[in-house]
Amino acid sequence: MSEPLLRANNIVSGYGKLLVVDGVDIHVDEGEMVTIIGPNGSGKSTLIKTLIGLVNIFEGTVRIMDKERGWLDIQSKKNQMRPDEIIKEGVPLGYVPQLANVFPSLTIEENLKMGFFVKKWDSCYQERSQRMFELFPILKERIDQKASLLSGGERQMLALARALMPAPKLLILDEPTAALAPNLAEEMLRMIVSLKETAAISILLVEQRAKRSLELSDRGYVLVTGRIAAEGPAKELLEEDKIRKLYLGVRDKEEKRDE
Ligand SMILES: Nc1ncnc2c1ncn2[C@@H]1O[C@H](COP(=O)(O)OP(=O)(O)OP(=O)(O)O)[C@@H](O)[C@H]1O
Ligand SMILES: [Mg+2]
Repeated sequence: MSEPLLRANNIVSGYGKLLVVDGVDIHVDEGEMVTIIGPNGSGKSTLIKTLIGLVNIFEGTVRIMDKERGWLDIQSKKNQMRPDEIIKEGVPLGYVPQLANVFPSLTIEENLKMGFFVKKWDSCYQERSQRMFELFPILKERIDQKASLLSGGERQMLALARALMPAPKLLILDEPTAALAPNLAEEMLRMIVSLKETAAISILLVEQRAKRSLELSDRGYVLVTGRIAAEGPAKELLEEDKIRKLYLGVRDKEEKRDE
């Protein structure tokens, strides 16, 4: 049986007095790819940002399993770890935000180093960056170029590579295919699946390409107005009529074609 890697219990969070996430429980097991879907504005990004300490948590806890240290409490009202603390403390968690995901005025190499800013890691920078260049050869070819010269898809790859630099066990991605052409989006999703399969990295993903993402995932959650409206094995969610119509954009006619 797979071991739990992330447990978020009763998450309540938001901005100032605005409550956005309203009592959410989610978990990711080792080796799993889990997708969160839901309408625009339902709180998906807010939930993910709460997990990594970018949004204030009002209630609840987030814990990550570290093989050597056991459960690490990373978010609670009393102890909220910011993303830089998460990296500095060696918490095995990586994050790729929905937008503004690279530093445009820095070069490719400088961007990679931003994901690897802890001094004690200096000695393995070369090894880690080589691994990234194997995964994303385009970055090696353009290592000294400014990130502002990259296309949208290339920037997404750089953001992904940067998040992978500290060798996380769990990667959290907020709409990694946003603004990508359909073929590039498919390529990006396949790259993410391959990280799970070849690098043993578990994945928690928010995706607007809900149907495709669930097809590639093990489990899913549907978030509606800050609450979990449905959850379960991705296959089961894909087969549920209500979910297909409301959240996967499958219409009756298409449904007939699908059968
Ligand atoms: N920085 C902020 N300050 C105040 N309210 C915010 C902030 N960011 C988001 N919100 C509000 O929180 C709610 C949820 O937003 P969020 O970005 O989490 O939704 P989402 O599900 O990720 O949407 P999308 O699918 O469009 O990315 C929205 O009503 C939004 O207006
Ligand atoms: Mg969002």
